[in-house]
Amino acid sequence: MTVSKRRVLSGIQPSGTLHLGNYFGMMKPALEMQADPDNQCFYFIADYHALTQTPDPELLRKRGREVALDFLACGLDPERTVLFRQSDIAEIMQLTWVLSCLTPLGLLERCHSYKDKVSRGLIPNAGLFNYPILMAADILIYDSHLVPVGRDQKQHLEVTRDLAQKFNHQYGECLLVPEAIIRDETAVVPGLDGQKMSKSYDNYIEIFGDEKAVRKKIMRIKTDSTPVEEPKNPDRCNLFAIYKLFAAPAEIREMRAAYERGGLGYGQVKQAIFEKYREHFAAARQRRLSLAANPEQLEEILRAGAEKARAVAQKVLHRVLTAVGIK
Ligand code: ADP
Ligand code: TRP
Repeated sequence: MTVSKRRVLSGIQPSGTLHLGNYFGMMKPALEMQADPDNQCFYFIADYHALTQTPDPELLRKRGREVALDFLACGLDPERTVLFRQSDIAEIMQLTWVLSCLTPLGLLERCHSYKDKVSRGLIPNAGLFNYPILMAADILIYDSHLVPVGRDQKQHLEVTRDLAQKFNHQYGECLLVPEAIIRDETAVVPGLDGQKMSKSYDNYIEIFGDEKAVRKKIMRIKTDSTPVEEPKNPDRCNLFAIYKLFAAPAEIREMRAAYERGGLGYGQVKQAIFEKYREHFAAARQRRLSLAANPEQLEEILRAGAEKARAVAQKVLHRVLTAVGIK
């Protein structure tokens, strides 16, 4: 069960256009982890998970490629990090079944993500209910140590740890119990309306959106109606929370002082956010254009990634099937 490097693993669903919540909550921390030579990072496109929302087949394929392009444009180095599609690793389905047979229904019934979707009127399919088991299989099948995610995935990581421990208790030490990596500063990136930014709500700012359209969206971010001349509380302001994501510590201190002094209009903060956004993603935007122009190269990166991921998955699955008495 020993692995020489620390495995870092995360996934993202190709269920829509990637946004600043995805970027600051998950992609940026995940990409920073690839710089540590002690880490081996595995990042994947969770297309089986996206199927729980029954997308149009062509859209699912297209969005999968787009997620891969976004990751590469934002700095994923395919020489160092393994990038692949979840659906290329057939072993995941086998582990999902084995774990399903150990999962108490109550554990799934308590999952907020499922409950939220149902409370918003979605008629759940069995895939949506079982989503956390598939996610546990994703993680456990690579002996993952660390899983960088946004706070909304915390409970799913707890389910994963529970299932790994349950398995080990039942069948003897076999599965590595992973840890979530959640950064406090970016755990929940707010959207235009102040709620969590999400592909499922119409409140997001795309990483690679059309600049004019993004500027319009930024101008729409909800604020209170404190007059310009009055002092404002930055810690209760959505704009400040978004500005902080992009700005350097000294700039954040200055902006905080400007809020507290009074005389700062929200329009100025919005303009500052737009400029930061444009600057932050300028180089990545260029890289994305050239990557998109070369679809064969993208397919080759995903194919090579799947081969490496699969080699690990096969070993762990063999260990699991032996432990349960199937092999
Ligand atoms: P969405 O809610 O837009 O469908 P996903 O569930 O696909 O996003 O999330 C992909 C990754 O991005 C996860 O690790 C998730 O925690 C992170 N993430 C998504 N939205 C946010 C947000 N608003 N703030 C912080 N992290 C986020
Ligand atoms: N459920 C995650 C999300 O919606 C995506 C995901 C699937 C994932 N499998 C994973 C994240 C394994 C981390 C590890 O964001």
